[in-house]
Amino acid sequence: MEARLAMISALNLDSFPAQLRALVIGASGGIGAAFVRALRNASTQYHVEELHRHSVPLIDFSDEQTIQRAAQHLAAHGPFHLIINATGILHSNDLMPEKKLSDLQYDQLKTVFEINTFGPALVMRHFAPLLDSQRGVMVMLSAKVGSIEDNRLGGWYSYRASKAALNMLVKTAAIELKRSQKNTVLLALHPGTVQTGLSQPFRGGSAARQADEAVVDMLNVINQKMPEQSGNFYTYGDEQLPW
Ligand SMILES: NC(=O)c1ccc[n+]([C@@H]2O[C@H](COP(=O)([O-])OP(=O)(O)OC[C@H]3O[C@@H](n4cnc5c(N)ncnc54)[C@H](OP(=O)(O)O)[C@@H]3O)[C@@H](O)[C@H]2O)c1
Repeated sequence: MEARLAMISALNLDSFPAQLRALVIGASGGIGAAFVRALRNASTQYHVEELHRHSVPLIDFSDEQTIQRAAQHLAAHGPFHLIINATGILHSNDLMPEKKLSDLQYDQLKTVFEINTFGPALVMRHFAPLLDSQRGVMVMLSAKVGSIEDNRLGGWYSYRASKAALNMLVKTAAIELKRSQKNTVLLALHPGTVQTGLSQPFRGGSAARQADEAVVDMLNVINQKMPEQSGNFYTYGDEQLPW
């Protein structure tokens, strides 16, 4: 409890209005839930909405219609100063990241791209118009392993490629939004290795951090980002990553 209070006091969101309105998509996940907790604990004046596969309305990237429907519903609760997409897949009961070319097959590639790339692309399409015109930040959780330049180990084909493609969509949308919504900030953000269901089979023991700690770091990075930084890829430690 004390550790959590200390983390909240380390949180600085002073570039946002005192009555911040935020939306977390993928709020049922380890990192998404921690974002909701951190924002709700930060100020009683904050209004925090959440969406996930079992919320009302729900959002499920395997059903494209749910993305537009959720955005239409949430429009009544906006405009939002902060929208965070914390959805993603690395493994499931049916798939594990591919180690070698001979592991590649369509079903897995399609599933991973649907959740890590196509869904977030449609989130950008339908939710960017819900951002506040004065201060509006949209964050797509990406992954450092999606950096093409940083790829030294290989493996994890579909996950890496789906995040690299997500990064391209973020960059492309940021260029368009600079023209049509000049105060919008759109970012790709790497959360670090965090203890969640997604990382559970892989994480290197003590290397993974608690989600509550990771989201405070990420919110402090987000707080500093202005339209000039839109379309970039950052880590939770505020380093800019190469594409
Ligand atoms: N944890 C790490 O170490 C780490 C490292 C680098 C990057 N990341 C990125 O951080 C983000 C959050 O990851 P996490 O660790 O919090 O993972 P997580 O705990 O597994 O959460 C994943 C979230 O994605 C949602 N999701 C899965 N399939 C979906 C679908 N078809 N439609 C809509 N939502 C779907 C899950 O919903 P359900 O609850 O319904 O399954 C859940 O809300 C991901 O983009 C991940 O790639 C994580």
